[in-house]
Amino acid sequence: MDNPTTIIIFGITGDLAKKKLIPALFNLWIKGHVKNLQIVGFSRRDMTDRDIREELLPTLLTKGEEGQIKKFLSLVHYKQGMFDDIDSYKNLLSYLNHMDEKIIDCSNKLFYLSVPPTLYEMILKNIHLSGLHIHCGTTERQTKILIEKPFGNDVKTAKKLDALLGKLFKESQLYRIDHYLGKDTLQNILTFRFSNTMFEPLWNNKHIKKVEINLFEKNVVGSRGVFYDEVGALKDVGQNHMLAMLSLISMAQPKSLSVRDVRSEREKVISKTKLLKSKSKESDLSFLRAQYDIYESEVGKKSDTETFFRVIAEIDNKKWKGVPFVLSSGKGLQESKTEIKIYFKDPSPLSFLPPQQKDQETNTLTFRIQPNEGIEILFWVKTPGFEQKIESKKLSFNYSDSKDTIPDAYERIFFDCIVGDQTLFPTTKEILGQWKFVEEAIKVLKKLPMEKYKVGGGI
Ligand code: BG6
Repeated sequence: MDNPTTIIIFGITGDLAKKKLIPALFNLWIKGHVKNLQIVGFSRRDMTDRDIREELLPTLLTKGEEGQIKKFLSLVHYKQGMFDDIDSYKNLLSYLNHMDEKIIDCSNKLFYLSVPPTLYEMILKNIHLSGLHIHCGTTERQTKILIEKPFGNDVKTAKKLDALLGKLFKESQLYRIDHYLGKDTLQNILTFRFSNTMFEPLWNNKHIKKVEINLFEKNVVGSRGVFYDEVGALKDVGQNHMLAMLSLISMAQPKSLSVRDVRSEREKVISKTKLLKSKSKESDLSFLRAQYDIYESEVGKKSDTETFFRVIAEIDNKKWKGVPFVLSSGKGLQESKTEIKIYFKDPSPLSFLPPQQKDQETNTLTFRIQPNEGIEILFWVKTPGFEQKIESKKLSFNYSDSKDTIPDAYERIFFDCIVGDQTLFPTTKEILGQWKFVEEAIKVLKKLPMEKYKVGGGI
């Protein structure tokens, strides 16, 4: 992409910017995906360009050569401003205009809100009021707004935020981020499903017995306690990342790969996603909420917030009815591992499988989202010899065998936003469907006792 692009990061000194956004932009720039880049940090702290460059340097040290890092950091600028002060936004506008004058051009502008969600309304209104959202040129270039999740806290607040966005900006300017959709391993779910004719005929309730979606993290809540205690595991990753994975596994084949067709299939399937009410014979797992043992001392108070949840979904359509989708996620677990496992139905009575091996009796297909990214199929073969013995084997694709490296989700998010492709960004309809499901799930979870588990242990 050669068009000049200016990325304005609200909250550039925060954790997300340092850990994810700046390294992603560095990688995009190094790989030549965005050549003509400028970054402007806009935050409350009084800092100079030099200060911000020094502050960002440690996050890049392992990512490239010294010369490259120095050159990249020279593209980073800082403009101090108060989020509640309209004059700060007007000053930012003059500053951006001045940058454009220097290159005698009108750059694409991306405003990235990497701030606590309580500040969204104020910042969005001020961007609008100051005219920052109006693009300086008449070319195909645009001003875009990138907003991090969470979008509201339930259906009602999500609708309110959406109404505000709709009033202030055009839909084509809005990029709502669920960074999981930016992960290469998630995009591969659709490629794998729709490029291999041998799986899609089996992709339904006649042949699939259950689906497990796990997002396990070793990390504890740590310094994010104040935010986390307000939301809990289900809202933090269930409402967005896990339901995004569920959509990609269960959506119907889109008519084309156009933004509209892909998003519309995701919307359709999420609107049909309900809680599995009756106990399923295919899964003996049930709803669960739990908290790790040191959580309350970490957040410094008594708390009813779950750090682990398990809920079971069902998709209310002909293709999926009756198949349990078991969603489990938690922090403070033994290992970090995100994967989706599809269990196929039990083999025919003629099969030679050992009866005692319950779930292992079936074929499974696993999408290893992270780490050790890949796709794996478990199947059964006869053990060589005279005895009628069988053993399981695996066929797998490992990303580590590929000569290409996996781009970080945020690289993809930035790139698609710069080129104006909204496919990997959730729509309002999807987000509302996700909240609706989560509201129902919360009602069930709240009735359950809070289980305890040892940090670093199992559940
Ligand atoms: C974020 C959650 O959206 O996703 C975090 O707020 C979680 O709590 C993170 O740790 C997980 O993302 P990833 O890409 O590290 O799996």
